[in-house]
Amino acid sequence: MKIAIYPGSFDPVTNGHFDIIKRAAKLFDKLVVVVMVNKSKQASFSIDERVEMLRRVTEGIPKVEVDSYTGLLAEYARERHACTVVKGLRAVSDYEYEFQMALANRRLNPNLETIFLPARGEYQFLSSSAVKEIARYGGEISYMVPKIIEKDIAERLKIK
Ligand code: PNS
Repeated sequence: MKIAIYPGSFDPVTNGHFDIIKRAAKLFDKLVVVVMVNKSKQASFSIDERVEMLRRVTEGIPKVEVDSYTGLLAEYARERHACTVVKGLRAVSDYEYEFQMALANRRLNPNLETIFLPARGEYQFLSSSAVKEIARYGGEISYMVPKIIEKDIAERLKIK
């Protein structure tokens, strides 16, 4: 059974992430979307909130499971017997960081390969940070996040 992991902060999940989930799920027997901690980012949503949003968004997509983990990705992959890490790649600026992570993860777990799926054109400049910035000031985020969680994100982040 080929198990892949799609890790990220998902703070919150965007349409760009959702697109990668749907595309990656078609390539493996199981795709585990895992909310992890990125030490260089200050999260706005708790891990439980992020997991809950991802579960609502991915409900009904076959072969997708949502989980969270606060340790090393390479260790989690070992525990889950996963052979592949899936990452979405946007503009060239993502590349260096992602390449570095892929090499570090393979050093920590030699059985782990990373594959990159290119983000669709319309999502090249979409990020969770942009969603949060716009939502804080009450701007339009409907094209940025899945409809089922749009209202919750807007209400949760809007500066009152
Ligand atoms: O969505 P992000 O913030 O780009 O995701 C980055 C994330 C959470 C996947 C990365 O920070 C991560 O793997 N964190 C877990 C700890 C770890 O394994 N770090 C990598 C060592 S090179």
